Amino acid sequence: MTKIISEDIFIVKKRNLKNDYYSLVLKPFSKIENCQPGQFVHLRIPSASIFFRRAFSLADTNAEKGTIEIIFKVFGRGTRILSSFRKSDYLNVLGPLGVPFKLPDKKEKVLIAAGGIGLPPLLYLVAEMVKKGYNPETIEFFYGGKTAADIIERNRIKKMKVNFHPVTEDGSFGEKGLITTPMEEMILENKAEKMKIYSCGPEGMLKAVNELGLKYGIEGQISLEAPMPCGIGLCLGCVVPLVKGGHARVCCDGPVFDIGEVVL
Ligand SMILES: Cc1cc2nc3c(=O)[nH]c(=O)nc-3n(C[C@H](O)[C@H](O)[C@H](O)COP(=O)(O)OP(=O)(O)OC[C@H]3O[C@@H](n4cnc5c(N)ncnc54)[C@H](O)[C@@H]3O)c2cc1C
Ligand code: FES
Repeated sequence: MTKIISEDIFIVKKRNLKNDYYSLVLKPFSKIENCQPGQFVHLRIPSASIFFRRAFSLADTNAEKGTIEIIFKVFGRGTRILSSFRKSDYLNVLGPLGVPFKLPDKKEKVLIAAGGIGLPPLLYLVAEMVKKGYNPETIEFFYGGKTAADIIERNRIKKMKVNFHPVTEDGSFGEKGLITTPMEEMILENKAEKMKIYSCGPEGMLKAVNELGLKYGIEGQISLEAPMPCGIGLCLGCVVPLVKGGHARVCCDGPVFDIGEVVL
């Protein structure tokens, strides 16, 4: 079992991705070799008024440089404070935590379903797949947001040479509507092919993606969010009900679960 340690690491790069989205690259992260897509770090926000750590999915890692990247959207007090941090400031990080995504078979068609700030773990997953020699043409990258401002890192996605399908609720960028509509069309057009779905995003979207997988018998995985006081399986603050009965802790039995595993 990997020992979980907390350590202070420095911000080496900060990017303002506009519209309240930020990317932070941090180093040196001693557990870099253990990181896998789907895992997260638990960050202490250095403020007397914030007690609990905040969880952030790994958006990328670079083992040679010893860096990890997180991407976040300013939502409440914690992320507001985080957005004020600058290059050379340090943060206390615990991780990597959680169960990673299981990679698909190389012959399978992959449907990525990212919603809003659910993008980071899927960026890391796809980058890792491309690095491992998966054909990017077999990866259909559906990415939905309320409006064009929510579709960040477009060039980064395009550079991976995957098939990019942006969708916005107001139609200001890409197709208008919800991502499950073009995803269902893709599934119906490619019925003969074996597929896998990977998703992270708001609860309503995850529920719809989960139902899509069950409806067409397509396996896959979804990454969940939950309040996470401890992040390491001790407090039971993050439990979700399971379809087979009982409960699971999102922090250490997840955050990645199989489609059909969790009651959503
Ligand atoms: C596995 C996982 C991965 C995530 N990945 C990302 C990511 O990549 N990018 C991103 O932007 N967000 C991510 N989140 C959400 C992130 O952790 C924050 O909860 C979110 O950004 C809001 O934080 P805030 O501090 O700005 O909001 P706040 O308004 O300060 O907090 C929101 C509310 O939740 C409560 N709360 C916050 N944290 C905890 C905690 N640890 N335990 C109990 N209660 C808490 C607060 O008290 C408050 O009531 C992830 C969450 C999880 C569980
Ligand atoms: S956050 Fe404490 S058990 Fe999951």
